[in-house]
Amino acid sequence: MSAADLQRPPEALFTPAASPPLTEPVGLMTTAKLMRDNPMAILPAPLFRETLLTGPYLGRSVHELAGPAEMKSVMQDNFEAWRKSPLIMRMLKPILGDAILTAHGESWRRQRMTLQPAFLKRRMDRFAPLMADAAEAVVETLGDADGPVEVHSVMNDTTFAVIERALFSDVEGFDRGEVRGAIEVLLEEIGRVRYSDLVPFPEWAPRLMSPGALKARSVFRRAADGQIRRRRAMDDPGDDLLGLLLKVRDEETGRGLSDIDIRDTLMTFVAAGHETTAIALTWALYLVANDPDCQTALRAEADAVFGTGAPGAEEAARLVLHRQVIEEALRLFPPAPILGRRALADCEICGRPVKKGDVALLAFYALHRHETLWDHPEKFDPGRWSQGRRPTDRYRFMAFGGGPRACIGAQFAMMEAAIVLSTILSRLSVKPAHGEVTPVMQVTLRPQGGMPLIFTAR
Ligand code: HEM
Repeated sequence: MSAADLQRPPEALFTPAASPPLTEPVGLMTTAKLMRDNPMAILPAPLFRETLLTGPYLGRSVHELAGPAEMKSVMQDNFEAWRKSPLIMRMLKPILGDAILTAHGESWRRQRMTLQPAFLKRRMDRFAPLMADAAEAVVETLGDADGPVEVHSVMNDTTFAVIERALFSDVEGFDRGEVRGAIEVLLEEIGRVRYSDLVPFPEWAPRLMSPGALKARSVFRRAADGQIRRRRAMDDPGDDLLGLLLKVRDEETGRGLSDIDIRDTLMTFVAAGHETTAIALTWALYLVANDPDCQTALRAEADAVFGTGAPGAEEAARLVLHRQVIEEALRLFPPAPILGRRALADCEICGRPVKKGDVALLAFYALHRHETLWDHPEKFDPGRWSQGRRPTDRYRFMAFGGGPRACIGAQFAMMEAAIVLSTILSRLSVKPAHGEVTPVMQVTLRPQGGMPLIFTAR
């Protein structure tokens, strides 16, 4: 079966798991509980039919957005009137510092301009072989398993290995196991919303870190500082991401990044670029496990593009159907399903007045499953991403965000996902194990309780 044959009628398509919307108004305490346990549960049913809903919350207005024009207004047209939500800032800053993901204003602009060249496609392409190595290792893990495998944790290991090797290709004097352990503790600390986080403290009010997280932060910082010092002492700091961070210069001022900027950027790349890609792969595997025809078509594409070899950067670009499947997985299960912003000044969203201090919730999950924007939005239909059918308005698909602060690592992530998915499916068949699958938002949109799938050799 070819990619073209994957244009199928809606009744032939798989209906994947969905997060049930909120069907009746709830009080403040319930909202706080839902926000802590699973913010997906606060998305109201009408948001899947309307594009902007406004309601009161603790003396302010909350605007819930689910339309392309509304997304563009906040992310592009008025992006300077909005700041990332204080809740996210207070959770991330103790660990990520003032690096690109958490910085604002001039500090962010300078870092974005400086880092952008490091993410040029030709620079990213050189990471394809290490992605292929990680894919090879994961095929062995999955193929050797006796019975169902919990795929989310396996994908996490895989994408962690990729980002870690892309950052530090050579790690003399660096204990990979110890650093990985520390990073896990830090990501866990970022990921756990506490009730105290929901009190609208100002952004500068410090968030107390657990003793374990403080220790993990010093383990990570010591290891990163050691590598930065070692590389600075070399004539050529290398071509991995750390080497690129040491070489990049601001075009206007000629200034490079400070050691602290580099250390916080390294941690930021791990935090932003590892679990997100793992989640995309987890949902993509779940979707194809439930769609044998799609699996057959993917296998045929992999055979035609790289046969029994390993996919490189050039092959990853030609894996058109794999990319469509990944985009469809990102549509149905965007790893960052809701983003929060706080208005810095009075402004408006598509004619709706906004007061300084108001909150915008950019509900990508609702946008991606919006009844007015997509045909059969609840169905897994990779064919909707083919040349003639894919949406032309880029604000309909926001898995990588949008506007000046859109994801800097999108190309890296798409190449990695295409290489890992194609390598797995070219060698193994996958089918669902058992049980209900429920998406919940715990930092990213994860399958509650994991994702058990069964793999067998082709
Ligand atoms: C499928 C995988 C990925 C998804 C779904 C994803 C999603 C996103 C989203 C939605 C944003 C915007 C956040 C906001 O505006 O508040 C973002 C920003 C960012 N992402 Fe990704 N990301 C992925 C992979 C990566 C990778 C692999 C890297 C790095 C190697 C990365 C690095 C970043 C950085 C540094 C930012 C901040 C950009 C800025 O503020 O200028 N991401 N990502």
